[in-house]
Amino acid sequence: MFLDQKYHLMLLCFFLALLPFATVAQSHKNISLGSSHTAEAGNSIWAVSPSGNFAFGFQQIQENGFLLSIWFNQIPEKTVVWSANGGNLAPKGSKVELTKDGSLLLNDPTGRQIWSPGSSGVETSYAAMLDTGNFVLASQSSEYLWQSFDHPTDTILPGQVLNQPSTLVSRYLETNYSSGRFQFVLKGNGNLVLYTTHYPTNAPNFAYWTTQKFGNGFSLVFNQSGVLFLQASNGSIISMISSSTSPTKDFYQRAVLEYDGVFRHYVYPKSSSSNTGSLQMAWSTVDFLPSNICSDIREDFGSGACGFNSYCMFDGGIKSCYCPYGYSFIDPDDVMKGCKPDFDSQSCDGSSPETDLFYFHEMENTDWPLTDYEYFKQVNEDWCKQECLSDCFCALTILGSNECWKKKLPFSNGMQDSTVQRKALLKIRKDNSTSKCEGPVRKKDQSKLIMVISVLLSSSVLLNLLLLVAGFSVVYWWRSKSSKPNQSSQAIVETCLRSFTFEELRKATNEFKEVLGQGAFSTVYKGVSFDHTRNHIAVKKLNNMVKENEEEFKTEVSTFSRTNHRNLVQLLGFCNDGEHRMLVYEFMSQGSLASFLFDTSERPSWSQRMQIALETARGILYLHEECSTQIIHCDIKPQNVLLDESFTAKISDFGLAKLLKIGQSRTNTGIRGTKGYVAPEWFRNMPITIKVDVYSYGVLLLEIICCRRSFEANAENENQMVLTDWTYDCFHERKLDLLVEGDNEALDEMKMVEKYVMVSLWCIQEDPSLRPTMKKVLQMLEGSVDVATPPDLPSFTTTMCL
Ligand SMILES: *[C@@H]1O[C@H](CO)[C@@H](O)[C@H](O)[C@H]1NC(C)=O
Ligand SMILES: *[C@@H]1O[C@H](CO)[C@@H](O)[C@H](O)[C@H]1NC(C)=O
Ligand SMILES: *[C@@H]1O[C@H](CO)[C@@H](O)[C@H](O)[C@H]1NC(C)=O
Ligand SMILES: *[C@@H]1O[C@H](CO)[C@@H](O)[C@H](O)[C@H]1NC(C)=O
Ligand SMILES: *[C@@H]1O[C@H](CO)[C@@H](O)[C@H](O)[C@H]1NC(C)=O
Repeated sequence: MFLDQKYHLMLLCFFLALLPFATVAQSHKNISLGSSHTAEAGNSIWAVSPSGNFAFGFQQIQENGFLLSIWFNQIPEKTVVWSANGGNLAPKGSKVELTKDGSLLLNDPTGRQIWSPGSSGVETSYAAMLDTGNFVLASQSSEYLWQSFDHPTDTILPGQVLNQPSTLVSRYLETNYSSGRFQFVLKGNGNLVLYTTHYPTNAPNFAYWTTQKFGNGFSLVFNQSGVLFLQASNGSIISMISSSTSPTKDFYQRAVLEYDGVFRHYVYPKSSSSNTGSLQMAWSTVDFLPSNICSDIREDFGSGACGFNSYCMFDGGIKSCYCPYGYSFIDPDDVMKGCKPDFDSQSCDGSSPETDLFYFHEMENTDWPLTDYEYFKQVNEDWCKQECLSDCFCALTILGSNECWKKKLPFSNGMQDSTVQRKALLKIRKDNSTSKCEGPVRKKDQSKLIMVISVLLSSSVLLNLLLLVAGFSVVYWWRSKSSKPNQSSQAIVETCLRSFTFEELRKATNEFKEVLGQGAFSTVYKGVSFDHTRNHIAVKKLNNMVKENEEEFKTEVSTFSRTNHRNLVQLLGFCNDGEHRMLVYEFMSQGSLASFLFDTSERPSWSQRMQIALETARGILYLHEECSTQIIHCDIKPQNVLLDESFTAKISDFGLAKLLKIGQSRTNTGIRGTKGYVAPEWFRNMPITIKVDVYSYGVLLLEIICCRRSFEANAENENQMVLTDWTYDCFHERKLDLLVEGDNEALDEMKMVEKYVMVSLWCIQEDPSLRPTMKKVLQMLEGSVDVATPPDLPSFTTTMCL
């Protein structure tokens, strides 16, 4: 129990060496009636004790949150030993005042009372911070009318005595001083107890340590030798609690019920020099209670020493809480909130029992005792596993010797220790990508990619389109500022993905009979739906899945599972069965925008086309700015914009989109995109940003306006082959009507045509920084922002519009 003795000796020697340089105690004054102190940055101390060891005043806890408190003032940590308003921090400008009539009041700037000891008043003649760490309100005759020692928070100090009944309440977190989940109580019957509480009420729950000594007139004494004991009224020692061999003359001491539930006795070498610098001066633990909080807390109600579903390990006096495999903390900054599974629990729908979608993760020497709902004797491990697999309630089984316990969520009292003679088997979903049932989150984070193209094919803008782009290897580097995604106020439906077997999809597609489309890496088939909300599905079968692409597959699935927008094709499920990788989408009955625009003899209506242009822009905007992870599509083109039965445009094929995830540093990937829509920076050593999508969208917008492909080899006139160049010529020569020749609807709306053309010319600027964001694009299209005249294209070579 006595830790770090050698360390103390070393520190002591250091301290003695420093003694000659020790400064004299700070000057000290009593607080007289009528004085006050205001909470503001850099103005913490109201009173210091004569030796300077303790100070009373405001500690700034938050930007605008001050704690009226007492702290060790001669050490850099300024460790708080008592506080008045932990659950209700004082805003800047609050005032603590010893009024003329002798009341101590803490008021906020509007004069509303935050805290008061509610003391006797009239007789008070001064207040003082004493050398023991006791802050007192005293009468003329120095009788203490109120003292902080009588109203401890979570700490006791040498010289302090607690009489029955008394309670120490732990803080909520290390730096959150509001009442926490544990109590240290000297009860009216003399028993000294450590309790968990029924948080958030302060009602005691489970006693995890106790002296089991009963009587009247007991007191808890922390004497000046640093010994903490329970004393009877006749002076005899009832129970030793903790003791330190480090004399209080040379060491600061404190005993505190910490937020983790452990009661610890600490020492800190005294040094009156302001900062000792190199030597690690720090609080070190002398003793602690209970001996193993992880095993000592076993409560019928509540989560145990750690949060629900987590498990506890106690080593070297330190309690640690962990999430088991497949689970993660609900709040990593507040681990007592427990862990949540990263996967969906087993379906209890009898028609799809999901028995083979789960497996067991083994944890030796681990147990979550008490809250079991089934118990079996004389059974072996295999039997127990089968039993749990076929039971949708079962989330965990604990194995003893020929014994088996079944448990439901949430598990409590979890612990791992070499003394635990049991094995835990956690039931975990094999493919946890089905679990991403998250609502949308908004992200403000701007990520950056820097692309290095190792094989560079250079070409003029015109020739680009004729060259085959092949054999690129691209390296992404990115850095991203971390920022927590905020919950979006725009409620969009949650998405949940279903995992299909190959057999199910083979049947649904009638053995992959009807091909809807074919790409370099995939073929899309039409299939019949599995539920009654739709008739058909589209099954995208990824060809030649090699090991490397498995990662891509997972990326696409997880990207999709977190996106949900009216203008994105919805992913319904996936198949990751043996060598088969397939994605199941909603079926888009009107096919692609490409065939809608280019393959029909009759030109689609102008208003419908403009509607599609807006919807596509909204879909891209969502990918860029509104989903939990910023997504660069990288392959915006009319083939990847699909239309549903009411001709709503939906962006598809995220196969090429990469997630920009915090924490990942680099990845290898091939060049993305399709010639004609590809921004120039792909061919240069330039960062790839969301602006590549803006470029592609600009080209797409021109195609929608003009109802023709971006490149047409057999155009009547050579100058018209490349749509972007031709558009620019026409814009330059103010002959935009040529672009929409024969389109009477559009010709009637030349102002709008001009605006849309200008927007697209902004989008296809060579310099990505000149291109607007999708948000701006949408604002310009919708008319809420004016469109300026786009600058000349640098690559623009004067050709004729006709
Ligand atoms: C504080 O006031 C009390 C009572 O008047 C007095 O005995 C004591 O010496 C004062 N302390 C200081 C440091 O002025
Ligand atoms: C401290 O934690 C409590 C409980 O979670 C919370 O309500 C309170 O806002 C926190 N206080 C501070 C200052 O963070
Ligand atoms: C503190 O208590 C211990 C144990 O009873 C005793 O040995 C020691 O003398 C006490 N120290 C003081 C300063 O009272
Ligand atoms: C002091 O009080 C305790 C508890 O009340 C008792 O057990 C003990 O015998 C008493 N000792 C003496 C010397 O009276
Ligand atoms: C679930 O997914 C996360 C993140 O993708 C991964 O770290 C974890 O290992 C997976 N868990 C299981 C049980 O497959």
